[in-house]
Amino acid sequence: MSVAECIRTIRERIDNRKITTGLVLGSGLAGLADAVNNGVTIPYADLPGFPEVGVSGHDPNLIIGEIEGVTVAVFAGRAHYYEHARADVMRTPLAVLKGLGAKRVILANSAGSLRDDIPPGELMLISDHINLAGANPLIGETGDDRFVDMVDAYEPSLRQAAMRAAANIDIELASGVYAWLSGPCFETPAEIRALKILGADAVGMSTVPEVILARFFGLKVAGISNITNMAAGMDNIALSHEQTKKMANQSAARFEKFLKAFLKEI
Ligand code: HPA
Repeated sequence: MSVAECIRTIRERIDNRKITTGLVLGSGLAGLADAVNNGVTIPYADLPGFPEVGVSGHDPNLIIGEIEGVTVAVFAGRAHYYEHARADVMRTPLAVLKGLGAKRVILANSAGSLRDDIPPGELMLISDHINLAGANPLIGETGDDRFVDMVDAYEPSLRQAAMRAAANIDIELASGVYAWLSGPCFETPAEIRALKILGADAVGMSTVPEVILARFFGLKVAGISNITNMAAGMDNIALSHEQTKKMANQSAARFEKFLKAFLKEI
């Protein structure tokens, strides 16, 4: 059983530290792993069932240590549905997080904004999502637990803590609905116009399957988008992964400040 084997490997390397919180980093945010104190780094390659991570801006490492006194497990590399054609590609990391005793996971991503009042460089707290990828990580699961309730999937008490944290450090924190499309191509302007009508505020290629898995495993979820661009057709800056990484890097310091304030509040 690879989950049990991963838990054993990790426990052997982290002594008796009690992980309470997981953190999955998005594109261009892998450098946030440097914020971890007394960190133990475990390559995904040492953890059976952990995915191969093939997208630049992600590091295939699990880092366990402390941020603001909170013992965290930082997944510095995310694998995506579009890489593996499997929506459950992050299943083992999340199962392991739960197995290590964590209560919650903070899922970070880079996303495009559909709202003129949430420009690049801003953070958007995810209040809810729309799954438009036509995929679900629980397909094939058996038993009644697969029918996961997705009301308040983004834990209200964590959302309130995030808002308090942003106020404490005096930064704007928008809140909105994240739409998941599979990628890897960016959206068309027509798709973005359609997404606006559907009620989306931001768009991206990740996170949603992890939210579904985390809820399935009984982890509380917070989601936060680092807005790297206006969505397709909304301005004249060409979309590219280079641009995503560049913008994510530029706002990494702000994101780290927010994250620390958030961890203090939860
Ligand atoms: N669309 C999808 N994913 C993204 C975007 C976008 O505009 N920006 C960053 N990730």
